[in-house]
Amino acid sequence: MNGNNDAPAASRPRPASHSAELEEPLALHGGRPVRDTPWPTYDKGAVFVHPDDEDAAIRAIRSHLYFRYDHRAQKETECGRFEDELCRYFGTRHALAVSSGTAALALALMGAGVPAGSLVACPGFTFVATPSAIVLAGCRPLLVEVDDDLRMDLDDLRRRWRPDIRAIMVVHMRGFAADVEALAAFAAEMGVPLIEDAVPALGAELNGRKLGTFGAAGAFSTQSDKALNCGEGGFLITDDSTLFARAVALSGAYEGRLRRHFPDGEPPLTGLDLPLLSLRMDEIRAALLRAELTRLPQRLTLFHRNYAHVSQALADLPGIAVRRPVAPGAYLGEAFVFRVPGGDAGWFARALRAEGIDARNIGADDDLNVRAFWNWRFLYDTADPGQIRATLPRTARLLTETVDVPLSSNLTPDDCDDLIRAVRKVAAARETVLARP
Ligand SMILES: Cc1ncc(COP(=O)(O)O)c(C=O)c1O
Repeated sequence: MNGNNDAPAASRPRPASHSAELEEPLALHGGRPVRDTPWPTYDKGAVFVHPDDEDAAIRAIRSHLYFRYDHRAQKETECGRFEDELCRYFGTRHALAVSSGTAALALALMGAGVPAGSLVACPGFTFVATPSAIVLAGCRPLLVEVDDDLRMDLDDLRRRWRPDIRAIMVVHMRGFAADVEALAAFAAEMGVPLIEDAVPALGAELNGRKLGTFGAAGAFSTQSDKALNCGEGGFLITDDSTLFARAVALSGAYEGRLRRHFPDGEPPLTGLDLPLLSLRMDEIRAALLRAELTRLPQRLTLFHRNYAHVSQALADLPGIAVRRPVAPGAYLGEAFVFRVPGGDAGWFARALRAEGIDARNIGADDDLNVRAFWNWRFLYDTADPGQIRATLPRTARLLTETVDVPLSSNLTPDDCDDLIRAVRKVAAARETVLARP
């Protein structure tokens, strides 16, 4: 960490290369910020909700039927219809709406029959919910290094492999596809299920196939920061009828209600040998999500438009390394993520914030960011971040170099241009300081 908050760590002298317009003093140094309006995020009230969505929620409220398993047939409920619509959208045999993304992940693991006490491999860069879901399913996370583009590293997974790893949970973190084709092949080779934490990547595709459909099951969240937003909630998708039946029973379909999810035949199990965890979705949220799902394609277009604009403009900027997708277009576009290799990403993020951009250095010492694995203290016998970092040294270094800017689908082209100008301005100022003898 750099001791002086107002200057970047001068690790490498570099030539200055910027035009006069970039010579404005940084807002961090008292100059005029690039923007003075709040950066749009859900937190700032930037949501993608249409009057049709509100009408749908009010329709469900006025029905006075809020529980998904009342007297009505599955196809007459909001939850049942939402699940049918999800099956059509993803092209999967089954879908189950639940109470959160974390619940969907845990149900997927339990549904796949991963025994309690097993190790489950997951990447060292993800939201704390991923290892938490593994713990919720009674298992133990085994963390794996990520590569330069912050994706789970298959070579490191091979190196760390042990026979008591009974599942792999891959994450499409910040909306970027993991190398899920290679990981699915590896999981098949090892004879374990691959579960996709596709929470940050709802609707994104890899090589024309939707993320969440590569593994035994895919899990999604409908919490408010996500591409479908109803406050809380989530769902899982799968083609595996046994996994699905187990997940449905565990989620709270008691006394024959499991049958409603199998309208064309008998479920493959009764569910009586499973506990009932009550992780169901309710009718009001399902109604809201059904309405939002009809406009998901428009929302995805905006995410892609914004991300493509920003990433193309900044792709070759000296001094930063923009995160690269595993294949062209294999991202949602919910975040602009770059590294400041060997430099002071903490300073860079602070300078961007002063310019009016919501930027965070993921590995900052002064930020208890729960995407940094050394803040997942519940997994370790020690509270010493240094000792925890040493268990995944490459991931720790990369996260320390990483800056993350949320890209709401509501960003206008002007917002995107502000981001581009702010990153150029901060990078140019850094180059100038680094070029000083
Ligand atoms: C990668 C990842 N997995 C899982 C979750 C958990 O979703 P939820 O908050 O709906 O439990 C999140 C939440 O943001 C996430 O980012």
